[in-house]
Amino acid sequence: MVRVAVVGAGWHGQGHINTITQIDQIELVGVCDLNENHLTKVLKKFNVPVYKNYVEMLEATKPEGVILVTPPEVRLELVREAAERGIHCFIEKPPARTLEEAQKVTEVINKTGIINSVGFMYRYSKAAEKCRELLAGRSITNVQSTMLDGIALRENWPKWFFNKGISGGPIFDQTIHIFDLSRYLLGEVEMVCGFQGNKHIQKSHDFTIEDSFSLALNYKNGPLQTHTHSWVYSGFVCQFTFVSSDMHLTLDLAEGSVRGHIDGDSISYVEEDELYKQELEAFSKAIQEKSQEPIRSSYQDSVESLSISLAMLEALETNKIVNVGDNKEQVIHIP
Ligand SMILES: NC(=O)c1ccc[n+]([C@@H]2O[C@H](COP(=O)([O-])OP(=O)(O)OC[C@H]3O[C@@H](n4cnc5c(N)ncnc54)[C@H](O)[C@@H]3O)[C@@H](O)[C@H]2O)c1
Repeated sequence: MVRVAVVGAGWHGQGHINTITQIDQIELVGVCDLNENHLTKVLKKFNVPVYKNYVEMLEATKPEGVILVTPPEVRLELVREAAERGIHCFIEKPPARTLEEAQKVTEVINKTGIINSVGFMYRYSKAAEKCRELLAGRSITNVQSTMLDGIALRENWPKWFFNKGISGGPIFDQTIHIFDLSRYLLGEVEMVCGFQGNKHIQKSHDFTIEDSFSLALNYKNGPLQTHTHSWVYSGFVCQFTFVSSDMHLTLDLAEGSVRGHIDGDSISYVEEDELYKQELEAFSKAIQEKSQEPIRSSYQDSVESLSISLAMLEALETNKIVNVGDNKEQVIHIP
C-alpha cells in the first residue's frame, strides 16, 4: 500500500479521491483544502482526515506521495514543501502558470530527486498506445484533431476557469492535453498560429475567455496539424485523424478506439479505458518501485507541452506565427 494525500478538494480533486477509493494499492491518508465547504463534503462522503493547513497535514499524516489538484498558479510552494520531505508529487496539468515558475519547480524536483508525474491522462489511454505503435516509423502528412466540451455552458463549473488571467482559458487549461498527446504521438512542434473568437458566449466581467478556436501546428520534420476546440458544445468529443498516402486513421479518446486503414488493411480497435485510474496506478507503482519508469509524463517533459500552450496564446493574442521556444519570458495576458 502507498500512503497518499490529496491537496485541492474541488471538482477534480474529489474526482481523484473517488478514483483512489477504487485502487487497492493506494491508501488515502489525508485531504487538504482552503475551502471548508469542500472539506466538509469530503469528510462526509469519504470519512478521511481533512486539513486546512497543508504543512500540518504533511507532518501529521506522513504521506509517501501527494496529488496536487489546485488551480495552476498554486504549484511551486506545494511541490517544495513535499519534495523537501522526500514526498513524491503527482501534479495536475497545466504544470505551471509560466515557464519561469515551471523552471523553479523543475529545479526543486531535480534537487530532491522525487518521483514526479503530471496529469496528462491521455498518455495512459490504451487506444493512444495502440495508435502510437501503428504510427511508429511512418511518415505522416496531415493531422486533424478536435476537442469539443461544454465547460462554458455549465452553471456550477468553478468560476476561475472563465477568468483568463487565472485559467488562461481553453488553450492553456485544456488544449494543453491535445498539445501533450500530439507530442507523445508525433514529436516536437516548431511553429503555431490560429484564430479565436466568442462564437456563443460574449465576453463580460465574469467571462474574459474566448469559447471557440481554430489552430494550426507545424512539426519539426513532421506533419501539419489543424485543431478545432470549443467550450460551448453540449457533449464531449476528443479525436485525432492521422493521414498519409497509404493511411487514414482516427483515434477516438472518448470511445477508446482506433479505426481506419493502413496499407490497404482495415484497423478496428476498441478497449475500455479508465484514464484517471490508470495514471494514479502508475504513480503509486512508481513510488512502490522507487522508479520514474511507470510514469509517462514527467514534470520536465510536461514543460515542453506548456511551451506550446504559451506559444499558441501569444500567436492568438498577436495574430502572428510563433516559434515554440521563443516565448521563454511568456506570461498569460490579462485582458
Ligand atoms: N486532467 C483533467 O482532466 C482535469 C480535469 C479538471 C481539472 N483539472 C485540473 O485540476 C486543477 C484543479 O481544477 P478543479 O476543477 O478541481 O478546480 P476547483 O476550483 O474545483 O478546485 C481547486 C481547489 O483547490 C483549492 N486550493 C487552492 N489553493 C489551495 C492551497 N494553497 N491549498 C489547498 N487547497 C487549495 C481550492 O480551494 C479548491 O477547492 C486545475 O489545474 C485543472 O486544470 C484537470
